[in-house]
Amino acid sequence: MPLAYSAAAFGQLAAACAEGSDAPAFDFIQPNSLDQVTVAAGYRTRPLISWGDPITGDAPPFDVHAQSPAAQAKQFGYNSDFLALLPLPDDRSAVSDRALLWNNHEFLNPELMFPNYDPEAPTREQVDIGLLAQGASIVEIRLANGRWLPVRNSRFNRRITGQTLMNIRGPAAGDPRLRTAEDPTGTVARGTFYNCGGGVTPWGTVLTDEEDVHTCFGNRPAGGANDAVHHRYGIRTDASDYRWEQYHDRFDVTKSPNDVFTTGYVVEVDPYDPDSTPTKHTALGRLRHEASTVVLAADRRVVVYCGDDGRFEYVYRYVSTNPYDSSSRTANQTLLDDGVLSVARYGDDGSGEWIPLVAGHGPLADWSGADVAINTRGAADLVGATPMDRPEDIDVNPINSRIYAAFTNNIDRTEEQVDAANPRAPNDHGHVIEMTPGGGDHASPTFTWEILFLGGDPRNPSHAAFYAGIDSEDVTPLANPDNLLFDQQGTLYVCTDGQPVTLGSNDGLFAVPVSGPDRGRARQLLSVPVGAELASGCFSPDGRWFFGSAQHPGEGSTFESPSSTYPDGPGNPPRPGVFTVSKVDGGLIGA
Ligand code: FEO
Ligand code: CA
Ligand code: CA
Ligand code: CA
Repeated sequence: MPLAYSAAAFGQLAAACAEGSDAPAFDFIQPNSLDQVTVAAGYRTRPLISWGDPITGDAPPFDVHAQSPAAQAKQFGYNSDFLALLPLPDDRSAVSDRALLWNNHEFLNPELMFPNYDPEAPTREQVDIGLLAQGASIVEIRLANGRWLPVRNSRFNRRITGQTLMNIRGPAAGDPRLRTAEDPTGTVARGTFYNCGGGVTPWGTVLTDEEDVHTCFGNRPAGGANDAVHHRYGIRTDASDYRWEQYHDRFDVTKSPNDVFTTGYVVEVDPYDPDSTPTKHTALGRLRHEASTVVLAADRRVVVYCGDDGRFEYVYRYVSTNPYDSSSRTANQTLLDDGVLSVARYGDDGSGEWIPLVAGHGPLADWSGADVAINTRGAADLVGATPMDRPEDIDVNPINSRIYAAFTNNIDRTEEQVDAANPRAPNDHGHVIEMTPGGGDHASPTFTWEILFLGGDPRNPSHAAFYAGIDSEDVTPLANPDNLLFDQQGTLYVCTDGQPVTLGSNDGLFAVPVSGPDRGRARQLLSVPVGAELASGCFSPDGRWFFGSAQHPGEGSTFESPSSTYPDGPGNPPRPGVFTVSKVDGGLIGA
């Protein structure tokens, strides 16, 4: 197993780069509404793997008219989100021409997945396909003849789904609220859902974030001991989005009051052991989890930055009790069991504070550790955290070690609720905040912050857009930042989710320099197909490939009349999936 993963993946980027950055150089694209992945001149793109593609064992080829739970369990899942490239264990020095691809499968568009779908009365088969289309995929990929392709039947290929059994660890493990009909011990959960953001640990495991799990559960009884918590988390008293409760009691909160408490966590998976049992880490809190970006503090404790994607929700940080030990992968897999979760307060003067959520102290004097882990939002409400405009991804720049947090929008913020960190009401276009940890240490109790950009079109005064002081005509407008990543030069790349509504053009990938005279000068490198968001992206370690998740192409239309037929073309259903981008001359992306 890759004990050297940390040095390989974490050190490589930083070591390759010097402080300071040049603005990326490419013939940026214009906003468009094309049903394709559109890339800058000199670049090319190809689909890599899409919903339904066979990945394990004797998986059948995809046939949208003959889809079945048995097939879906062995095929690539739906609605690609967080992705990561991991080195193969026998070639850990780098991702060169072989890699493991991790991809989250966030949610479902059953109206695009199934002919004649009735949202109020789905069939048992549709429900079970949906359960198996969520979760994540691990697929070995290889580069040959200038093209990455999935490796069928690799021993690493694996589906993790809404049916996969998982261990529960941390402060809430074993709590009576987590004891279910299937597991009276409260230490086992069935399935992972709405896997949106994620992260990779220095010990080579993947963290996958359960986001909008509240939409999976229905029939919450009014009143009762847990009513206030359920209300705070948006658990419904009526039917769920996908009506899973019609066939599976665990999604019916009246019949099964505790299964809902086994969801909403960060899940750790060992991608190198296909038989490993994933772990739900309650120490990182129960949220609509977004981002689990891992860095090391100065003393080598493990720091994980997390967001909670809801209007007026908070930004969180976990710091492990014990330090990372590069010689013990087994010990490292306990680092997320015990630590301190804090929540961010953004002062109007640009100062910032991490407020620890410690049971038994201050406003949490009457709380147990399990209470904080299960009702994390309620705990954060009590300590003076700053309600933000839907925290999405949070990432750390490998060059300047600053933290960048995306806030995608908040249509509910009023003028009375405006503050320096959330300065627009409503906030239709979202923004990115740059945070500098106190003393450069990610475990510091303080930080400073400033706004890097406020999304929207600077030529439209009603947007009140701001791009770090760059003149409006020199910016390609972007809106609704969601996922963030960095290239080797420390340039921020922003994946967007929502531009068809807010700017009238497809979502895509924007380069935003964070230093030098071009700081804030947004330029668009690519766009995704009609209806899709660019849900996640990553660069290969050599900087020559970009991998992107085209999520929900065709959203807003139906199977019978789809607005997108990406990637297969007319006559085919839209299929979310992962695509690659490279330069035709083989050079560095953005250079
Ligand atoms: Fe799944 Fe918050 O985007
Ligand atoms: Ca989003
Ligand atoms: Ca997201
Ligand atoms: Ca990211």
